[in-house]
Amino acid sequence: MVERRTPDGKTAYLEAGHGRPLILLHGFPMDKAMWTPQVDALSTAARVLVPDLPGFGGSCGFDGRPSMDGMADRVAEFLDALQIREKVIVGGLSMGGYVTLAFARRHPGRLVALILADTRAGADDEAGKTSREKMIALTREAGPRAVIEQMLPNLVGPDVRTERPGVVDEIRDIASAQEPAAVIAALEAMRDRPDSTPHLGAIAVPTLIVVGEQDAITPPSRSEEMARAIPAAELVVLPATGHASNLERPEAFNAAVLAFLYRVA
Ligand code: MLT
Repeated sequence: MVERRTPDGKTAYLEAGHGRPLILLHGFPMDKAMWTPQVDALSTAARVLVPDLPGFGGSCGFDGRPSMDGMADRVAEFLDALQIREKVIVGGLSMGGYVTLAFARRHPGRLVALILADTRAGADDEAGKTSREKMIALTREAGPRAVIEQMLPNLVGPDVRTERPGVVDEIRDIASAQEPAAVIAALEAMRDRPDSTPHLGAIAVPTLIVVGEQDAITPPSRSEEMARAIPAAELVVLPATGHASNLERPEAFNAAVLAFLYRVA
């Protein structure tokens, strides 16, 4: 695995392997480092590319108003910057899944398959939007560390929290290092994101949906809804796993993704 920057200087990313490009998009308020257990492991089946979304990790922030569509367009720009013309697999976890769904709506011709991990298609309801406002205020007052402390009880499933508390520390470390401006921009983009549900039926590529059985943020019921609505979807539920499924159970997560990649890549 190597760390690189696109020739236009905008995007920092991790890369490993050759062949069909697999783009992995991180959750909130994380960066590309959250995919570390996947990059080399999945590189036996694809060219794994893991960018930092705008403002996170080493990537430049938004030029204009933050939005999921803007993040999806930056993924398309990332592919252009690397001169990738062939069809790709895009996968995202949670917020990365929201971006993946926006990418599928805006750039369907660039896709050969999708991976949606611990995510949902629906928009925020009024309570969700209010909670984003509170998080924005908390970020301004106390920074990303305070935001992740508030999220952590729901981010990692109860089994892994007990068995491997190091996973909690890992998430805390990555999230605490993010810039407040990036965290606020992502909260605004998530608050304002449109409902992707009406577009699910138009997804014409094979789609793997993975979810932790104990996911308290985007519960399995949300994944089941997406699996019913997307024509060529398959659903894998990981036992004794919470929202941060790729970090909590990397072996089971990678096994599900590799089986899918060998079929579609
Ligand atoms: C994430 O893990 O990306 C977030 O929990 C998503 C969200 O807050 O909606």
